[in-house]
Amino acid sequence: MSMQGKFITLEGVDGAGKSTHLGFVADWLRGQGREVVVTREPGGTPLGETLRELLLHQHMDPDTELLLMFAARQAHLAQLILPALARGAWVVSDRFTDASYAYQCGGRGIPAERIAALEAWVQRGFAPDLTLLFDVPPEVAEARRSAARAADRFEREADSFFSRVRNAYLDRAQAEPARIRVLDARHTIAELQMELGQLLQGLA
Ligand code: TYD
Repeated sequence: MSMQGKFITLEGVDGAGKSTHLGFVADWLRGQGREVVVTREPGGTPLGETLRELLLHQHMDPDTELLLMFAARQAHLAQLILPALARGAWVVSDRFTDASYAYQCGGRGIPAERIAALEAWVQRGFAPDLTLLFDVPPEVAEARRSAARAADRFEREADSFFSRVRNAYLDRAQAEPARIRVLDARHTIAELQMELGQLLQGLA
């Protein structure tokens, strides 16, 4: 039997509420007796967290932003994600490469082929086993964002930016329905936890 753990990612526009559900997903898996590593992108390693600070607060070109996202991702994979999976742990990440397609391609307008080239280089075919996409209409996400703490560089973007990000996420979910499961993030937390439990059951 393979020792390999599974890799689960959470995605959604800023304000969709995915961070609220990260702890639930991790606790649910721990309840099944799994070792769980919780992490995030950009970030997850000391270098990645330093890059995150820059990415969230420093003005830069879209291409610089994309390259730094993948620089952080390469370190994250090599130092944290792949070693954890190899020892049998399950890894739950707040965002991964779908966010690059949604934000840098959908949001910023970088051609998808550039992201695909970096993905092929850095991931060599590696992809999440399950991606939970928390989807909400732009106005709901906007209301949740403005209620939250000081906005970073992404959170200050216009509504049209987030509409493009959302549509890019939904296009990806349509192209890969087995991996990317869309959850209606307007549902109550209790409803979403029930839906999450069912999805995780299918994977465990
Ligand atoms: P986010 O995950 O929303 O964290 P928090 O809940 O602390 O605000 O913030 C990360 C930001 O980085 C988010 O706005 C999306 C952006 N991002 C990209 O643009 N591309 C990527 O590839 C990744 C991983 C994140």
